[in-house]
Amino acid sequence: MKNSPWWRDAVVYEIYVRSFADASGDGVGDLEGIRARLPYLAELGVDAVWLTPFQPSPMADGGYDVADYRGVDPLFGTLDDFDALVAEAHAHGLRLIVDVVPNHSSSEHPWFKAALASPPGSPERDRYMFRDGDRPPNNWTSTFSGPAWSRVPDGQWYLHLFAPEQPDFNWRNPAVHEEFLDVLRFWLDRGVDGFRIDVAMGLYKDADLSDVPPSEEGFQSRSPIWSQPEVHEVYRAWRKVLDSYPGDRAAVGEVWTDSPEDLALYVRPDELHQSFNFAWLEAPWSATSFRKIIDDTLAAVTAPTWVLSNHDVVRHVTRYGEGSLNPGAGNARANAALLAMLALPGSAYLYQGEELGLPEVRELPPEARQDPIFKRSKGELPGRDGCRVPLPWSGTEAPFGFSPDGGRPWLPQPPEWAALTAERQAGDPESTLAFYRRALALRRSLRDSLPDAIAWLDAPADTLAFSRGELVCAINCGDRPVPLPPHDGVLISSGPVDETTLAPDTAVWLRSA
Ligand code: GLC
Repeated sequence: MKNSPWWRDAVVYEIYVRSFADASGDGVGDLEGIRARLPYLAELGVDAVWLTPFQPSPMADGGYDVADYRGVDPLFGTLDDFDALVAEAHAHGLRLIVDVVPNHSSSEHPWFKAALASPPGSPERDRYMFRDGDRPPNNWTSTFSGPAWSRVPDGQWYLHLFAPEQPDFNWRNPAVHEEFLDVLRFWLDRGVDGFRIDVAMGLYKDADLSDVPPSEEGFQSRSPIWSQPEVHEVYRAWRKVLDSYPGDRAAVGEVWTDSPEDLALYVRPDELHQSFNFAWLEAPWSATSFRKIIDDTLAAVTAPTWVLSNHDVVRHVTRYGEGSLNPGAGNARANAALLAMLALPGSAYLYQGEELGLPEVRELPPEARQDPIFKRSKGELPGRDGCRVPLPWSGTEAPFGFSPDGGRPWLPQPPEWAALTAERQAGDPESTLAFYRRALALRRSLRDSLPDAIAWLDAPADTLAFSRGELVCAINCGDRPVPLPPHDGVLISSGPVDETTLAPDTAVWLRSA
């Protein structure tokens, strides 16, 4: 057995709580729903589960607007339900990590309400980013479109990098530091195995709040909004808290940045254990770009992570399918990318429903959409609801076992998902679900014997091949079949394969010759 901590090579399954499983029948997923599906996750073969926010929230951003960092929203259950979920997850051998949202709170948080009830210059206002002025203090725009500053009745402005209902904290105020150290302890004391840190590169803003130069819009490491050097002190303090608990508690940061070197700063030995590596998720279907991403990542960090989809982006079956005339290309490529990702050193994050091959739902009626991006852009941007449609579990019509019969899921499920339910796929050895189970089981059986380094093998144009100890992985991103690398047997493949040829949009694991 390798003696490395669990998170280094864990497969972590993201549960977007509102959309996973609804036990109460109100159409919204909940903690009891998750608890009932733990056997499914154990059988799938993941090592850990990440829960998106379930704390009390007015749901202006689906729970990423937290009004109380130490509770459970009644929509999702109770603290007792949470405790039961932790215990049962552990009994199934699953670790559990939870989201922490330190960049901003809800505007319904008692601190923000106190800030509004207090005068400019008061200590209550100093826990958020209030400024005077006839005009907004700078040119920053909200990530959800529109201005990043809103005005309160006495004329001051407050900063919200996301929706106006998500005021940004002032991390230069020590009270904010203390509060979050305590929030971490609250959940660690309840037995969580770690945290996913929301907008981890956002906490500190440039001290002068200088304008964003036009060339540095977006998640740039040089922007005055993101990745300020002071943020690293926060994670040094958080690491000390995590290390003071037994059992390898770990944190993964949501760090959007244009620079692998910037990403590496967050995972220095005394900071976060991991950070998401969004480069692959942002890349087109291309062997050249995949190779560059793998090389850059392995050169920059010692604990790499890989991810293809999450609750903020278009599902990768759809992303990969859009560039191809072949209607099956999206699913074929998604399965091939999974094999490539699982063959690499490091840990992999899966997003709920990708194991069912779910596509993005493009056709949601405007009145059903809830994402603030859709609302703030006045419908110009579709927003993220299309990747958040509640999962199809069983049966032949909505709610497909997501809610008890008669329940109405908070977003409508397409009727054609009848063919994609977990129940239906579980009985079909050719299904995406069966493929995920096989791939995850094989990875688990191999991982203790695989080295942390890979070696590139010669491969035809538009393809990649690398070896990692006894494992060889090859992926064909081109449009014609190519010869397989020399090998001593096929271990698994994402599509039909013979002993000598690798079809387009297919990946394979081989035993090295
Ligand atoms: C993160 C979350 C996203 C949320 C945003 C604001 O990017 O993943 O869903 O809207 O932070 O909290």
